[in-house]
Amino acid sequence: MKLAQPAGIQYAAQIHTSSYLCGMDQLLAQIAGYKQEIERLTPDGQESLEAYRIKFLGTKGIVKNLFTEMKNVPSEKKKEFGLILNEFKQLAENKYETWKASLESHPAASAPKADPTLPGDIAPLGSRHPISLMRNRIIEIFQRLGFAVAEGPEIEDDWHNFTALNLPEHHPARDMQDTFYISQHPDWLLRTHTSNIQIREMEKGNLPLRIICPGRVYRNETISARSHCFFHQVEGLYIDENVSFADLKQTLYYFVQEMYGTDIRIRFRPSYFPFTEPSAEMDINCQICHGKGCTVCKHTGWVEILGCGMIHPKVLENCKIDPNKYSGFAFGMGIERPAMLKYGINDIRLFSENDVRFLKQFTSAI
Ligand code: PHE
Repeated sequence: MKLAQPAGIQYAAQIHTSSYLCGMDQLLAQIAGYKQEIERLTPDGQESLEAYRIKFLGTKGIVKNLFTEMKNVPSEKKKEFGLILNEFKQLAENKYETWKASLESHPAASAPKADPTLPGDIAPLGSRHPISLMRNRIIEIFQRLGFAVAEGPEIEDDWHNFTALNLPEHHPARDMQDTFYISQHPDWLLRTHTSNIQIREMEKGNLPLRIICPGRVYRNETISARSHCFFHQVEGLYIDENVSFADLKQTLYYFVQEMYGTDIRIRFRPSYFPFTEPSAEMDINCQICHGKGCTVCKHTGWVEILGCGMIHPKVLENCKIDPNKYSGFAFGMGIERPAMLKYGINDIRLFSENDVRFLKQFTSAI
């Protein structure tokens, strides 16, 4: 709503030029007109409220001016005119008060109007954590080979983390995976690998089985630039009839080719895990120095990226799977190491410090 400017003076002038002869009637007609005008007004902001106040209630406003007209009204009409005038004054003041109150209870109405021509505020974009980026890449590649993602608990019992995996109590290989135990519940621990998910899936008995198991794992390690008491893994498992070591090799070769490019080279070194037989560790040729020798590959030209092997018959039996009918392979890799290599990160602690200056650097990373 817009009010005519500068209201008070203009109306006062009109009143003064009106001749007294037709005065009383004319004044009453004017008052009736003002009344209608006031009724029609709708509050829409501080500016128009102030314009209204000046026009009707200001020191040179309509109400004041009408009162000065009083002297021109014949004495026998003064009382009648006075009543009408007071009633009009009341109306003008009430309107002002209710208008003001309604603006105070809806401040938005009085706020300056938004300027749609101004450039918008740009909300800062978040970014995926480098561990998530790497995990998603690994998952994507195995999903293309028909592996499904399976997840499991981080607080695990002894059976699913150790015993079912052919790591009975007092087995020396448990030493390599010392972890955190829960004192009120001696059977519970923080899982040391995501192999617990593999046991849980095998126990369900839905064969054939082709899964990858991403997740966080824990070990009782001293925290340094190279190791942490928690890190992330993706483990994989494939069980069917007639699965052989050749399937294992080809699957992992496909994986590293997808991950690092088709000119990648791999080698298998014999190793030992209680839950696989035979067991191996797989290396890729160093992607940093390409064989020239650097600190990452410790001048060998090779970098270890995962452990793997054919599932031990004892593990199958523990999960009520007939080892004479079924065979399978499993592998497990950390996510931190390949992420450090890919993004040039030299301290594993950076992953969990939540320093925005670090995390912001991955806004456009893939
Ligand atoms: N569970 C092993 C580890 O965490 C990795 C692994 C998985 C090795 C499957 C062989 C087969 O070290």
